[in-house]
Amino acid sequence: MKELLVTRGLGLEIDRKNIIRDVDTSLAVGEIKGVMGPNGAGKSTFLRLLAGELCPTSGEIALRGEDMTSKPAREFNKSGISYVSQRPGPFPDLTVEENVRGAVQRGSLFSRRSVRSKVDTLVDLIGIQAKLGLSARELSYGEMRTLDVGMALASEPVLLLADEPTAGVSGDVADEIITLLKGLCRSNDGRRFGLDGLIFVEHDKGTVFHLADRVGFLREGRFVVEGSPEEVRENRAVVQYLAEHGVD
Ligand SMILES: Nc1ncnc2c1ncn2[C@@H]1O[C@H](COP(=O)(O)OP(=O)(O)OP(=O)(O)O)[C@@H](O)[C@H]1O
Ligand SMILES: [Mg+2]
Repeated sequence: MKELLVTRGLGLEIDRKNIIRDVDTSLAVGEIKGVMGPNGAGKSTFLRLLAGELCPTSGEIALRGEDMTSKPAREFNKSGISYVSQRPGPFPDLTVEENVRGAVQRGSLFSRRSVRSKVDTLVDLIGIQAKLGLSARELSYGEMRTLDVGMALASEPVLLLADEPTAGVSGDVADEIITLLKGLCRSNDGRRFGLDGLIFVEHDKGTVFHLADRVGFLREGRFVVEGSPEEVRENRAVVQYLAEHGVD
């Protein structure tokens, strides 16, 4: 199977605390991976390492065979990795349209005309046409997270990393975000904004097991288990975690 992303012995130590420990993992082309685990397990830190926002203290990260390990975040973005942070990123005082346009302009250098058409395509993709003139602060939380995903797609990434994109989002909008993410990874028709891979973090087990092809359960900076949703669901540590935390 062709690998999109590979990590070998990935680690991050801060103040003598090992936040991420010796993580060997990979993502195949076309694959969706869900990462779950307790609060403080290191899920966000893991994604930030993959986004180039943090520099590992050990190990390696390769994207399509290219070593990314010590490159700055903008090189990760240039190489096709985009990241949705756990906290909403749109500028609250700018309109939805200005936020999308800004992301498109940051993502690439285009003539005014192609910026316009790219903004239109993105707005259409995330279904936010009716809210274009509102300032981002007027959006519901779910709309804000949808806008986050749209803005992350502006650089036309091959790999999207999304940290809890549906946490705190009401049911219907959460389902829309999941459908959007799933559709992006399934578009083999050369449609723009199609992805070669997605890694997302979620606590909600329904979302994780429904959206992911493979699931990793992270605890204390290590993947305790990685595998198909069926395998992970049956793992003793996962069963215990879900029972103790009443996560559903
Ligand atoms: N810059 C930092 N300096 C020191 N410790 C940090 C730093 N960033 C994260 N940590 C610690 O690393 C651990 C993992 O944090 P992280 O935010 O990655 O967890 P998480 O799994 O995403 O948790 P949550 O489910 O609450 O979002 C925590 O103990 C956190 O306090
Ligand atoms: Mg987190």
